[in-house]
Amino acid sequence: MSEKTFYITTPIYYPSGNLHIGHTYTTVAADTITRFKKLQGYDTYFLTGTDEHGQKIEKVAAEAGVAPQAYVDGIVTGIKSLWDTMNINYDQFIRTTDPEHEKTIQRIFKKLYDQGDIYKSNYEGWYCTPCESFWTESQLVEGNCPDCGRPVEKASEEAYFFKMSKYADDLLKHIEEHPHFIQPESRKNEMINNFIKPGLQDLCVSRTSFTWGVPVDFDPGHVVYVWIDALPNYISALGYLNDKPDLMEKYWPADVHLVGKDIIRFHTIYWPIILMALKLPLPKQVYGHGWILLKGGKMSKSVGNVVDPVVLVDKYGVDALRYHVLREMSYGSDGVYNEDLLVSHINSDLANDLGNLLSRTLAMTDKYFGGVIPTERETEDIDTDLIALAEKTPGVVSDYMDKLDFSRALEEIWKLVSRSNKYIDETQPWVLGKSPEKQARLAQVMYNLTESLRIVTVLISAAMPETARKIGEQLNCPAACLTWDSIQHFGGYPEGLKIERCDALFPRIELEKKAEQPVKEAKAEKAKKENESKTPEELPEGLITIDDFAKVQLRVAEVVACEPHPDADRLLVLQLQVGQEKRQVVSGIAKYYAPADLVGKTVILVANLKPVNLRGLESNGMILAATKGKKLSLVTVDGIPSGGKVS
Ligand code: MSP
Repeated sequence: MSEKTFYITTPIYYPSGNLHIGHTYTTVAADTITRFKKLQGYDTYFLTGTDEHGQKIEKVAAEAGVAPQAYVDGIVTGIKSLWDTMNINYDQFIRTTDPEHEKTIQRIFKKLYDQGDIYKSNYEGWYCTPCESFWTESQLVEGNCPDCGRPVEKASEEAYFFKMSKYADDLLKHIEEHPHFIQPESRKNEMINNFIKPGLQDLCVSRTSFTWGVPVDFDPGHVVYVWIDALPNYISALGYLNDKPDLMEKYWPADVHLVGKDIIRFHTIYWPIILMALKLPLPKQVYGHGWILLKGGKMSKSVGNVVDPVVLVDKYGVDALRYHVLREMSYGSDGVYNEDLLVSHINSDLANDLGNLLSRTLAMTDKYFGGVIPTERETEDIDTDLIALAEKTPGVVSDYMDKLDFSRALEEIWKLVSRSNKYIDETQPWVLGKSPEKQARLAQVMYNLTESLRIVTVLISAAMPETARKIGEQLNCPAACLTWDSIQHFGGYPEGLKIERCDALFPRIELEKKAEQPVKEAKAEKAKKENESKTPEELPEGLITIDDFAKVQLRVAEVVACEPHPDADRLLVLQLQVGQEKRQVVSGIAKYYAPADLVGKTVILVANLKPVNLRGLESNGMILAATKGKKLSLVTVDGIPSGGKVS
């Protein structure tokens, strides 16, 4: 058994409705780091689940006319199915209605009561009689009930309280002595200065005004309230004060509690204090990530702008969504969700960079060597840069993963992808392919590309498990060559394997230019008006209306790389930069231009042509050329940066 363990948790989610892309981010992040640690040989344990008790659930269930348990059972089934869809590989799904969890909570409550940390008193708050709910001052909306908007009145009920302040000094000391306990750093200062130093209030830990909760077994009528039911799920799942304490021994303290910024306070103040009172070690780290926001602000069920991950997976595939959320959320900060950005990640990073590296490498290996790279090979100095980067990347990626900086980790992997694409342009395998005396050199080039792809495959396997599996299959890599140890040195791709070419990994998605839609519509409307007075018959033969012309989108594009098509002598494969976007265009101009002559030229792209497949490679648009007789010249422009419009 491995000695290195890694225990990670997500928050347990409220089953009050469907989960959205924000919850998906946290769970995908936890899944990714767990898979990565497993790859590195850790014995991992990944816990997620649902937080099912409380007044709100009791109320929603009553409104739906079902018992609370039946209500949450239905929603939990949906949540589990979402995690299956997202390829989440958790070890345990805890529910706060699990009898084992309830038993642990009752024992914790009793233990804390017996040792004097919990005492009975009165809870004072604002009560809404129709809703039968207590609210705090800050929850009220313009002085009224936040649920029904009716007036509330001051009331009090008997309740148990936890003596938070008793542990405040110990907590402060722990935070100061353990600089990684609260991450990112900015959140730590906020906790200390805004909450701990001003003084901690005792925490209300039971209620009598509702019944949907864990009963306090020594005082009927009281149920355990919110955080003291929810937070200990992280140890009840490991069998604390229960029947399977071996998990507790093995995995506690947790390595990371991954939580959103809104609940970091509960995890860095209440939770460590509960643990201190139980005389248990504190988790090694609480990591507070930012939120996924929409352009207009927060997602909310009542506004109806909640982004449903299942819809996106249906449309774009699970790994595209996993990649997008991990890449988009930079370390600890908020990220903005926008479907165009998701599509541009797919087209640019996945289809263009990674997809093309794979398809070019496999197509050329197939064409020149029937799919098996010869063992007789010849290295050149130009190889050292790629090899050095490939050998350095696993360590750099691992450092970023340890910091839970998924965005930077992926960025580093993509540097290797881009470097490999550049290596194709530098070594020009299509030129080597024409000289029989360069076969050994060509074999080395193809080996280096295949080997880089193997390393990339292992590195992306945590974030994009399905994609890694598919690439591994196309490279025909045995499992032993897809391990962490195997990518520490360049050269582990075994001799004699035959690659297996398949369909494109990530077909390009047509960008729906939503932002441009209103402008386009206005232009079309104007053009329509101008031509309204003329019937089609009145227009001279062969003429088109401005409406027809407005349909063609012409853009300035820069040729950033170019190479011959591996399977067709007539064709060149051009990589274009069009503003922020990258495009691949296959063009029948090999007779007129050498690939190197085109790099750096600024050409005109017909940007809204339906993509076509030309001899196995996708062509996305067409570049304009002037021809006469046997002459051909590409139409180029000066002084207008790529992305510019042609009209
Ligand atoms: N049940 C409590 C957690 C108890 S943990 C012992 C809870 N549940 S929740 O369902 O409301 O939220 C769960 C998590 O989802 C929180 O970490 C929260 O920050 C996160 N998110 C909710 N909306 C989010 C985004 N828009 N973006 C990212 N995460 C967000 O709180």
